[in-house]
Amino acid sequence: MKKNELSLLLETAKAARLRAHAPYSEFYVGAALQLEDGTIIPGCNVENASYGGTVCAERTAFFTAVAAKGKIKPKAMVLVTDPLAVPCGLCLQVMAEFCGPKFPIYLATPKGIKKRLRFQQLMPNTFDRRALE
Ligand code: THU
Repeated sequence: MKKNELSLLLETAKAARLRAHAPYSEFYVGAALQLEDGTIIPGCNVENASYGGTVCAERTAFFTAVAAKGKIKPKAMVLVTDPLAVPCGLCLQVMAEFCGPKFPIYLATPKGIKKRLRFQQLMPNTFDRRALE
């Protein structure tokens, strides 16, 4: 990924993080999902007083992408948290639906990108559509 492409993703994720609705945990998460066609989709966590109704930043980005585009081809994702964190298991399950093992996930704090992981490092064995064939 080109350096300026990655910094645009980082800025998108940082801006989304500032829009997070997280009055309960006060843990603010921003995501930016880049699609193969170049589109960048922001996501933030949206908490709910029921707690269970909360949706993470990553899933917000994936679901927004599907709502906007229909069929999606994810290229990369940047996640911004403070402190640094990895995607939760539920978000990994949603990624398993749309992403291949090499899908790059860049972990960042507001200060910058700290780490790059491939999806397969976070979830080496996936439950996906192949199980249902
Ligand atoms: N959260 C995310 O947005 N993404 C993750 O991968 C982990 C957790 C959110 C959910 C909740 O609003 C807050 O962080 C604390 O769990």
